[in-house]
Amino acid sequence: MAQMIDGKKIAAEIREQIAADTKKLVEETGVRPGLAVVIVGDDPASHVYVRNKKKACEQVGFYSEEHALPEQTTQQELMALLDRLNQDPKIHGILVQLPLPRHLDEQAVIERISPKKDVDAFHAMNVGKIMIGNFDFLPCTPAGVMELIHAAGVSVSGKECVVIGRSNIVGKPMAMLLLHENGTVTICHSRTQHLPEVTRRADILVSAVGRAKFVTADMVKPGAVVIDVGMNRDENGKLCGDVDFAAVEPVASYLTPVPGGVGPMTITMLLKNTLTSAQKTAQGK
Ligand code: GUN
Repeated sequence: MAQMIDGKKIAAEIREQIAADTKKLVEETGVRPGLAVVIVGDDPASHVYVRNKKKACEQVGFYSEEHALPEQTTQQELMALLDRLNQDPKIHGILVQLPLPRHLDEQAVIERISPKKDVDAFHAMNVGKIMIGNFDFLPCTPAGVMELIHAAGVSVSGKECVVIGRSNIVGKPMAMLLLHENGTVTICHSRTQHLPEVTRRADILVSAVGRAKFVTADMVKPGAVVIDVGMNRDENGKLCGDVDFAAVEPVASYLTPVPGGVGPMTITMLLKNTLTSAQKTAQGK
Protein backbone atom coordinates (compact mmCIF):
# COMPACT_ATOMS: atom_id res chain seq x y z
CA MET A 1 0.00 0.00 0.00
CA ALA A 2 1.50 3.33 -1.07
CA GLN A 3 2.27 6.04 1.42
CA MET A 4 0.64 9.36 0.51
CA ILE A 5 2.87 12.39 -0.04
CA ASP A 6 0.89 15.21 1.59
CA GLY A 7 1.40 18.21 -0.68
CA LYS A 8 -0.93 20.38 1.35
CA LYS A 9 1.09 19.91 4.54
CA ILE A 10 4.48 20.28 2.83
CA ALA A 11 3.28 23.41 1.02
CA ALA A 12 2.01 24.91 4.30
CA GLU A 13 5.42 24.40 5.93
CA ILE A 14 7.27 26.07 3.05
CA ARG A 15 4.75 28.95 3.01
CA GLU A 16 5.38 29.56 6.72
CA GLN A 17 9.07 29.95 5.94
CA ILE A 18 8.27 32.26 3.00
CA ALA A 19 6.06 34.40 5.29
CA ALA A 20 8.88 34.63 7.86
CA ASP A 21 11.46 35.52 5.19
CA THR A 22 9.08 38.13 3.76
CA LYS A 23 8.61 39.77 7.15
CA LYS A 24 12.38 39.91 7.59
CA LEU A 25 12.92 41.36 4.09
CA VAL A 26 10.34 44.09 4.69
CA GLU A 27 11.77 44.98 8.11
CA GLU A 28 15.38 45.04 6.98
CA THR A 29 15.09 46.59 3.52
CA GLY A 30 11.57 48.00 3.10
CA VAL A 31 11.10 45.83 0.01
CA ARG A 32 7.80 43.93 -0.01
CA PRO A 33 7.58 41.18 -2.65
CA GLY A 34 4.99 42.09 -5.29
CA LEU A 35 3.32 39.81 -7.82
CA ALA A 36 1.22 40.92 -10.79
CA VAL A 37 -1.10 38.33 -12.26
CA VAL A 38 -2.48 38.97 -15.73
CA ILE A 39 -5.44 37.07 -17.08
CA VAL A 40 -7.11 37.57 -20.46
CA GLY A 41 -10.64 36.35 -21.20
CA ASP A 42 -13.11 34.54 -18.99
CA ASP A 43 -12.09 30.89 -18.78
CA PRO A 44 -13.60 29.90 -15.39
CA ALA A 45 -10.83 27.41 -14.46
CA SER A 46 -8.14 30.03 -15.13
CA HIS A 47 -10.00 32.55 -12.96
CA VAL A 48 -10.05 30.02 -10.10
CA TYR A 49 -6.27 29.50 -10.44
CA VAL A 50 -5.68 33.27 -10.47
CA ARG A 51 -7.86 33.82 -7.39
CA ASN A 52 -5.91 31.12 -5.53
CA LYS A 53 -2.61 32.72 -6.49
CA LYS A 54 -3.76 36.12 -5.22
CA LYS A 55 -5.03 34.61 -1.96
CA ALA A 56 -1.73 32.79 -1.43
CA CYS A 57 0.16 36.09 -1.90
CA GLU A 58 -1.92 37.78 0.77
CA GLN A 59 -1.34 34.92 3.21
CA VAL A 60 2.45 35.31 3.09
CA GLY A 61 2.39 39.12 3.21
CA PHE A 62 3.10 39.92 -0.45
CA TYR A 63 1.71 42.83 -2.38
CA SER A 64 -0.32 41.54 -5.31
CA GLU A 65 -2.38 42.94 -8.13
CA GLU A 66 -4.62 41.30 -10.65
CA HIS A 67 -5.12 42.55 -14.19
CA ALA A 68 -8.21 40.92 -15.65
CA LEU A 69 -8.43 41.91 -19.31
CA PRO A 70 -11.32 41.28 -21.70
CA GLU A 71 -11.21 38.46 -24.27
CA GLN A 72 -10.84 41.00 -27.14
CA THR A 73 -7.62 42.51 -25.73
CA THR A 74 -5.12 43.12 -28.52
CA GLN A 75 -1.51 41.99 -28.58
CA GLN A 76 -0.46 45.65 -28.43
CA GLU A 77 -2.55 46.37 -25.33
CA LEU A 78 -1.18 43.32 -23.54
CA MET A 79 2.40 44.21 -24.51
CA ALA A 80 1.88 47.78 -23.22
CA LEU A 81 0.69 46.44 -19.85
CA LEU A 82 3.72 44.16 -19.60
CA ASP A 83 6.03 47.07 -20.40
CA ARG A 84 4.46 49.04 -17.54
CA LEU A 85 4.75 46.12 -15.11
CA ASN A 86 8.37 45.51 -16.17
CA GLN A 87 9.13 49.11 -15.10
CA ASP A 88 7.05 49.09 -11.90
CA PRO A 89 9.31 48.92 -8.81
CA LYS A 90 6.46 47.49 -6.66
CA ILE A 91 6.34 44.40 -8.90
CA HIS A 92 8.96 41.65 -8.64
CA GLY A 93 7.06 38.89 -10.40
CA ILE A 94 4.79 38.92 -13.45
CA LEU A 95 2.63 35.96 -14.32
CA VAL A 96 0.47 35.82 -17.43
CA GLN A 97 -2.04 33.03 -16.95
CA LEU A 98 -1.95 30.54 -19.84
CA PRO A 99 -3.52 29.55 -22.15
CA LEU A 100 -4.19 32.91 -23.80
CA PRO A 101 -7.04 33.45 -26.27
CA ARG A 102 -6.08 32.14 -29.72
CA HIS A 103 -5.62 35.54 -31.39
CA LEU A 104 -2.71 36.37 -29.06
CA ASP A 105 0.88 35.24 -29.70
CA GLU A 106 1.69 33.41 -26.47
CA GLN A 107 5.43 33.05 -27.02
CA ALA A 108 5.81 36.75 -27.91
CA VAL A 109 3.94 37.64 -24.71
CA ILE A 110 6.21 35.43 -22.60
CA GLU A 111 9.32 36.93 -24.19
CA ARG A 112 8.08 40.46 -23.38
CA ILE A 113 8.22 39.80 -19.62
CA SER A 114 11.54 40.89 -18.15
CA PRO A 115 13.52 37.69 -17.43
CA LYS A 116 14.17 39.14 -13.96
CA LYS A 117 10.41 39.19 -13.24
CA ASP A 118 9.59 35.93 -15.05
CA VAL A 119 8.55 33.96 -11.96
CA ASP A 120 7.03 31.19 -14.14
CA ALA A 121 10.50 30.66 -15.69
CA PHE A 122 8.92 30.43 -19.16
CA HIS A 123 11.10 33.09 -20.87
CA ALA A 124 13.64 31.62 -23.31
CA MET A 125 16.46 33.15 -21.26
CA ASN A 126 15.32 31.35 -18.10
CA VAL A 127 14.57 28.11 -19.97
CA GLY A 128 18.13 28.24 -21.33
CA LYS A 129 19.58 28.88 -17.87
CA ILE A 130 17.70 25.86 -16.52
CA MET A 131 19.13 23.74 -19.32
CA ILE A 132 22.64 24.84 -18.36
CA GLY A 133 21.96 24.36 -14.65
CA ASN A 134 22.64 27.98 -13.66
CA PHE A 135 19.20 29.32 -12.88
CA ASP A 136 17.48 32.03 -10.84
CA PHE A 137 13.96 30.63 -11.05
CA LEU A 138 12.70 27.08 -11.45
CA PRO A 139 9.40 26.44 -13.23
CA CYS A 140 6.76 26.14 -10.52
CA THR A 141 5.17 22.75 -11.13
CA PRO A 142 8.38 20.74 -11.76
CA ALA A 143 10.04 22.51 -8.80
CA GLY A 144 7.06 21.55 -6.64
CA VAL A 145 7.37 17.92 -7.75
CA MET A 146 11.05 17.89 -6.75
CA GLU A 147 10.13 19.25 -3.31
CA LEU A 148 7.60 16.43 -2.86
CA ILE A 149 10.17 13.81 -3.87
CA HIS A 150 12.67 15.28 -1.39
CA ALA A 151 10.07 15.51 1.38
CA ALA A 152 9.35 11.79 0.93
CA GLY A 153 13.07 11.17 1.53
CA VAL A 154 13.53 9.69 -1.95
CA SER A 155 16.89 10.14 -3.69
CA VAL A 156 16.79 10.62 -7.47
CA SER A 157 20.44 9.85 -8.17
CA GLY A 158 20.91 6.85 -10.45
CA LYS A 159 17.17 6.06 -10.53
CA GLU A 160 15.11 5.32 -13.63
CA CYS A 161 12.82 8.34 -13.99
CA VAL A 162 10.01 8.38 -16.54
CA VAL A 163 8.04 11.54 -17.34
CA ILE A 164 4.82 11.18 -19.32
CA GLY A 165 4.14 14.43 -21.20
CA ARG A 166 6.47 16.82 -23.02
CA SER A 167 4.91 20.27 -22.51
CA ASN A 168 7.07 23.34 -22.06
CA ILE A 169 5.30 24.03 -18.74
CA VAL A 170 5.77 20.61 -17.13
CA GLY A 171 7.21 17.66 -19.07
CA LYS A 172 10.37 19.15 -20.57
CA PRO A 173 11.53 21.13 -17.50
CA MET A 174 10.54 18.21 -15.24
CA ALA A 175 12.92 15.94 -17.14
CA MET A 176 15.68 18.52 -16.81
CA LEU A 177 15.31 18.86 -13.03
CA LEU A 178 15.40 15.07 -12.60
CA LEU A 179 18.51 15.01 -14.80
CA HIS A 180 20.14 17.72 -12.63
CA GLU A 181 19.75 15.32 -9.70
CA ASN A 182 21.40 12.52 -11.69
CA GLY A 183 18.30 10.56 -12.60
CA THR A 184 18.29 8.44 -15.78
CA VAL A 185 15.43 10.18 -17.53
CA THR A 186 13.00 9.10 -20.25
CA ILE A 187 10.30 11.40 -21.66
CA CYS A 188 7.20 9.66 -23.05
CA HIS A 189 4.52 11.29 -25.20
CA SER A 190 1.62 10.53 -27.50
CA ARG A 191 3.87 8.86 -30.12
CA THR A 192 5.72 6.65 -27.63
CA GLN A 193 5.46 2.98 -28.55
CA HIS A 194 4.82 0.32 -25.91
CA LEU A 195 4.20 2.95 -23.23
CA PRO A 196 3.46 0.49 -20.37
CA GLU A 197 6.77 -1.27 -20.99
CA VAL A 198 8.62 2.03 -20.71
CA THR A 199 6.73 3.32 -17.65
CA ARG A 200 7.20 -0.04 -15.87
CA ARG A 201 10.94 0.63 -15.84
CA ALA A 202 10.41 3.72 -13.69
CA ASP A 203 11.54 3.95 -10.08
CA ILE A 204 10.09 7.46 -10.21
CA LEU A 205 7.11 8.01 -12.52
CA VAL A 206 5.75 11.52 -13.15
CA SER A 207 2.53 11.84 -15.12
CA ALA A 208 1.55 15.14 -16.77
CA VAL A 209 -0.90 14.02 -19.43
CA GLY A 210 -4.25 15.57 -18.56
CA ARG A 211 -6.39 12.44 -18.86
CA ALA A 212 -8.29 10.80 -16.00
CA LYS A 213 -7.25 7.21 -15.14
CA PHE A 214 -4.51 7.27 -17.79
CA VAL A 215 -1.91 5.58 -15.57
CA THR A 216 -3.13 2.09 -14.74
CA ALA A 217 -1.66 -0.49 -12.36
CA ASP A 218 0.03 -2.47 -15.18
CA MET A 219 2.06 0.66 -16.05
CA VAL A 220 3.64 0.91 -12.60
CA LYS A 221 6.62 -1.03 -11.28
CA PRO A 222 5.96 -2.43 -7.79
CA GLY A 223 7.48 -0.04 -5.25
CA ALA A 224 7.68 2.94 -7.65
CA VAL A 225 7.26 6.55 -6.53
CA VAL A 226 4.32 7.93 -8.53
CA ILE A 227 3.76 11.68 -8.88
CA ASP A 228 0.46 12.79 -10.40
CA VAL A 229 0.53 16.23 -12.02
CA GLY A 230 -2.88 15.76 -13.71
CA MET A 231 -5.87 18.02 -12.98
CA ASN A 232 -8.87 16.41 -14.61
CA ARG A 233 -12.56 15.83 -14.03
CA ASP A 234 -13.82 12.24 -13.81
CA GLU A 235 -17.12 11.00 -15.26
CA ASN A 236 -18.96 12.47 -12.24
CA GLY A 237 -17.28 15.87 -12.59
CA LYS A 238 -15.03 15.25 -9.57
CA LEU A 239 -11.46 16.60 -9.60
CA CYS A 240 -8.95 13.80 -10.24
CA GLY A 241 -5.43 13.28 -11.54
CA ASP A 242 -3.95 11.16 -14.34
CA VAL A 243 -3.44 8.13 -12.12
CA ASP A 244 -6.08 5.46 -11.53
CA PHE A 245 -5.67 5.99 -7.80
CA ALA A 246 -7.49 2.91 -6.44
CA ALA A 247 -5.64 0.58 -8.82
CA VAL A 248 -2.15 2.09 -8.41
CA GLU A 249 -2.22 2.62 -4.65
CA PRO A 250 -1.51 -1.06 -3.81
CA VAL A 251 1.43 -1.14 -6.30
CA ALA A 252 3.35 2.10 -5.64
CA SER A 253 5.54 2.88 -2.61
CA TYR A 254 4.66 6.59 -2.60
CA LEU A 255 1.82 8.35 -4.36
CA THR A 256 0.55 11.95 -4.52
CA PRO A 257 -3.20 12.53 -4.16
CA VAL A 258 -5.26 14.86 -6.37
CA PRO A 259 -6.29 17.27 -4.97
CA GLY A 260 -3.72 17.89 -2.22
CA GLY A 261 -0.56 16.70 -3.97
CA VAL A 262 1.25 18.71 -6.63
CA GLY A 263 -1.36 21.52 -6.84
CA PRO A 264 -0.57 23.31 -3.55
CA MET A 265 3.15 23.01 -4.32
CA THR A 266 2.89 24.83 -7.65
CA ILE A 267 1.58 28.03 -6.06
CA THR A 268 4.11 27.70 -3.25
CA MET A 269 6.96 27.65 -5.78
CA LEU A 270 5.49 30.74 -7.44
CA LEU A 271 5.66 32.50 -4.06
CA LYS A 272 9.22 31.28 -3.59
CA ASN A 273 10.29 32.67 -6.98
CA THR A 274 8.63 36.02 -6.26
CA LEU A 275 10.42 36.23 -2.91
CA THR A 276 13.74 35.36 -4.61
CA SER A 277 13.17 38.13 -7.15
CA ALA A 278 12.38 40.67 -4.41
CA GLN A 279 15.47 39.61 -2.42
CA LYS A 280 17.62 40.15 -5.51
CA THR A 281 16.10 43.61 -5.99
CA ALA A 282 16.84 44.46 -2.36
CA GLN A 283 20.45 43.43 -2.97
CA GLY A 284 20.58 45.71 -6.01
CA LYS A 285 20.89 42.80 -8.44
N1 GUN B 1 -1.49 27.61 -16.85
C1 GUN B 1 -1.40 26.37 -16.33
N2 GUN B 1 -0.32 26.27 -15.53
C2 GUN B 1 0.27 27.48 -15.54
C3 GUN B 1 1.43 28.01 -14.90
O1 GUN B 1 2.16 27.33 -14.16
N3 GUN B 1 1.69 29.31 -15.15
C4 GUN B 1 0.93 30.07 -15.97
N4 GUN B 1 1.30 31.33 -16.17
N5 GUN B 1 -0.14 29.62 -16.59
C5 GUN B 1 -0.46 28.32 -16.37
